[in-house]
Amino acid sequence: MPQTFEDELESGDDTSVERATGPSLATLWSRRRFLQTTGGFALAATASTSLLALSACNKAPTDLPPFTFKELERGADEAIHVAEGYDADILIRWGDPVYADAPLFDPMKQTAAAQTRQFGYNNDYVGFVPLPFGNATSDHGVLCINHEYTNAALMFPNFVSTDAASREQIDVTLAAHGGSIIEIARNADGKWKVVQASPYNRRLTMLDTAMDLSGPAAGHERLKTSADPTGRRVIGTLNNCAGGITPWGTWLMGEENINFYFGGELGDTPEKANHERMSIPRNLMGWWRFHMRFDVELEPNEPNRFGWVTEVDPLDPKSIPRKRTALGRFKHEGAESIATRKGRLAVYMGDDQRGEYLYKFVSRDAFDADNRTGNADLLDHGTLYVARFKDNGSGRWLPLTFGANGLDATNGFLSQADVLIETRRAADTLGATPMDRPEDVQPNHITGRVYVALANNKDRKAEEADGANPRGTNLWGQIVELIPDNDDHADTGFTWNILVAAGDPTDTAIAAQWNDTTSKDGWFACPDNLAVDAAGRLWVATDQGDDWAKTSGAADGIFALATHGPERGTAKRFFQVPVGAEMCGPCFTPDATTLFVAVQHPAADIAPEERTPPRASTFEDPATRWPDFADAMPPRPSVVAITSHNGGPIGG
Ligand code: FEO
Ligand code: CA
Ligand code: CA
Repeated sequence: MPQTFEDELESGDDTSVERATGPSLATLWSRRRFLQTTGGFALAATASTSLLALSACNKAPTDLPPFTFKELERGADEAIHVAEGYDADILIRWGDPVYADAPLFDPMKQTAAAQTRQFGYNNDYVGFVPLPFGNATSDHGVLCINHEYTNAALMFPNFVSTDAASREQIDVTLAAHGGSIIEIARNADGKWKVVQASPYNRRLTMLDTAMDLSGPAAGHERLKTSADPTGRRVIGTLNNCAGGITPWGTWLMGEENINFYFGGELGDTPEKANHERMSIPRNLMGWWRFHMRFDVELEPNEPNRFGWVTEVDPLDPKSIPRKRTALGRFKHEGAESIATRKGRLAVYMGDDQRGEYLYKFVSRDAFDADNRTGNADLLDHGTLYVARFKDNGSGRWLPLTFGANGLDATNGFLSQADVLIETRRAADTLGATPMDRPEDVQPNHITGRVYVALANNKDRKAEEADGANPRGTNLWGQIVELIPDNDDHADTGFTWNILVAAGDPTDTAIAAQWNDTTSKDGWFACPDNLAVDAAGRLWVATDQGDDWAKTSGAADGIFALATHGPERGTAKRFFQVPVGAEMCGPCFTPDATTLFVAVQHPAADIAPEERTPPRASTFEDPATRWPDFADAMPPRPSVVAITSHNGGPIGG
């Protein structure tokens, strides 16, 4: 979700519940001190942190293969760009068929019925599940793609506002949300194609896809509505941002900025404080004008049915997606997972809003990746934790468990369902550390380390800076590295250090932290989505919103970021989106010879003053018409497949 939407959230939005403050003022680390290495392990700022880090990661490799590609030059224009030696091919665009019987896309005659058969808008998370499942094939599989939200002014001709939109237009936007599952295969020429008649191909939409609520909050009174007196069945999944693929090949979709879809007056509903903590209602989409479930006055419990992680089995087209309430309710970015020492699943999750928290869920039971259906209820049982960071480089995962540490009737929690429905307030109660917009949280299956993308936080005052969030008025974000104690993702202890503090390294006033070998083209701002390739190397996608001209002066893109060895903290630019787009996706095939990326909302995030002459970017006059560059076609969010000319792994 771009910052233009994020900026709709005024700084006072989250003050309805008084929160514990994070650690006190911390000093900024010098660029050089954090980059020091001993035996390949990064040393954090203090001696105690260094010792903890060393003891906790004694099995981690001391180095990873270098990135050998020739770096892309920074820029901003109407096209995509990829590093020399690579092809970037369009795989699927908004409006392309998902089902073989989908009508041809006609932007002048859009209907909701057509959109439910076509690829949705604003592709975000991309996940790859190999076919056949269980084989690490890299030339055949299904792609699972989130459709996060819609930009109506770029979708519809002569669009005025969501509050003046027709019923059909509103329903097109509901149908354009959700997700797509497409079977894809690599042809003899090395190019990827959608398998058009595949039985796996499926659209999930906000208009017509029934889902179950499962786990501790399912069936609770606070989830019941007039349309669903059971509190267990809901139509659609909303504002799906990033996600994850589980070891058993299911797809996790994070429901993020759910507040923008609700209108009406809260009145004196018992849910008032709960909704205010999630900035509900904040009507931006106009849905409540035609769909009464989005009117909080009429249906005060409907918002409680969103803000979860939805699990989908992409290999069973008839399966009913399930919202896993055990993983908590907040503005979920993603849900990337890794096995614990005892074979349970740890799922790492960010709550993407300024000053919100970092979470992980650890399943009660071990999973069996070879018995797909045997894990059907695995994510319904376990412990949800929220992170507290200490300035000395250590941290704790605090359990969000009813009945302990104030999560009881004295603070208005009467059950685990209450704790989960109001996860943010429960985390406030425990004294979690407010972070600089937690985005994707990526465990590395090779090194066991975890990377937390923190996008930015313009609201953090200098006196509120702390170790893991070291800058006030932070417009550039940082990436924090976590190392679980005892090499175990089930452990409640961890150590942390800052891998990079983003922004221009030549501007000493902003205290960016990079390895000195990072070039003028390599540094970035506002890390969002993360991915790890087959060799264990980290890749970063950025989302600067419409501030890109100020935060980096270049369009968003994909960056390779070294995490080990002497290059640790060095970023290299690999791919660049068209102007106004956000970089989403990054997803590797198991052998890392293909990188799928999602180009979201091309032409959207561009301030009028960035155009000559200054003017808004609209359907009739967009800042780019990528990818078709045809006068009759608006810009279209699309998934791109990147491959190497030599057939080798992405990045060299
Ligand atoms: Fe949907 Fe946090 O980006
Ligand atoms: Ca994102
Ligand atoms: Ca990721």
